[in-house]
Amino acid sequence: MTMGISTAEAASSADEMLLAQTQVFHHVMAHVGSMSLKCVVELDIPDIIHAHGRPMTVSGLLSKLPVSYNKAPFLPRFMRILTQMGYFKAQKARDEEDAYSLTPLSTILLKNSPISLRAWVLGTLSSHMTVTWQFLSAWLQSEMPGCTHEFEHGKSLWDLASENHEFNSMLNEFMASDTRFLMKYVVEKCGEAFEGLRTLVDVGGGTGTAARAIAEAFPRLKCTVYDLPHVVACLPESPLVDAIGGSMFESVPEADAVFLKVNLSICFFLMLFLNTYIVGNNQGCKCIGYGSDMAFAIYN
Ligand SMILES: C[S@@+](CC[C@H](N)C(=O)[O-])C[C@H]1O[C@@H](n2cnc3c(N)ncnc32)[C@H](O)[C@@H]1O
Repeated sequence: MTMGISTAEAASSADEMLLAQTQVFHHVMAHVGSMSLKCVVELDIPDIIHAHGRPMTVSGLLSKLPVSYNKAPFLPRFMRILTQMGYFKAQKARDEEDAYSLTPLSTILLKNSPISLRAWVLGTLSSHMTVTWQFLSAWLQSEMPGCTHEFEHGKSLWDLASENHEFNSMLNEFMASDTRFLMKYVVEKCGEAFEGLRTLVDVGGGTGTAARAIAEAFPRLKCTVYDLPHVVACLPESPLVDAIGGSMFESVPEADAVFLKVNLSICFFLMLFLNTYIVGNNQGCKCIGYGSDMAFAIYN
């Protein structure tokens, strides 16, 4: 019996290989999309189109942008990439040039939007944050304890923030921008999670964006922000929430509910930790968690 493959099998495997190659290319080049997004946001293109008040051509954009003359031919490419990703809508202008307008994706990047994700995009895609992804395999092979940020930058994100006021402000603001966005929906769609509570502590609550949104929506609920001391020191004055500085790995203030809003990957781990060590010692305490990267909610 021969071990060869039939013509039909070869054809289907050729199709599969072509699809496989396309998918590998897609994965390898994924950063082209995120970095083009960063570029367009840094250049304030969504705000420029918004201020224009109607679809804007690339020549119109170039008249408002500090793009150097010899790079001008590249701008249409960025606009096409972002249009393909859903950030802009293109239509033909009278002179056959494409004219771009905003979509919901670019609207939530406007500087003055109350739910703007601009700071989150720029913070997450900053070279400081993205460089750590370059060394995952080296980090896995290293005996050094700590996360990838420590491996690349010599200290944890939180330690760096405690030493560098500017970095602390940038970090707090980029996390708050995502929270401002999400909390609007959390209080609207998941209000039942907060019903019947008298006190709530937002663990790792940053500069209090989530706690203020909850306190505004549920005025009878006493909300406390609990975060590292250098973070709560930046909390804006508000009669709505209290602030306590400390580490959740040492203790958490007592309350009817522990609230946690971080990204999905660590939310499960922290929920488990808080449930076991904190809520476990304080029977009746509820644990409410939100993962921002998938906007999911879990509560007991
Ligand atoms: C991903 S951010 C989330 C901030 C906020 N919940 C939000 O969504 O805007 C994680 C927060 O946890 C805080 N944090 C880190 N380690 C901590 C610790 N040991 N105890 C308390 N908070 C901590 C950080 O300072 C940061 O504000």
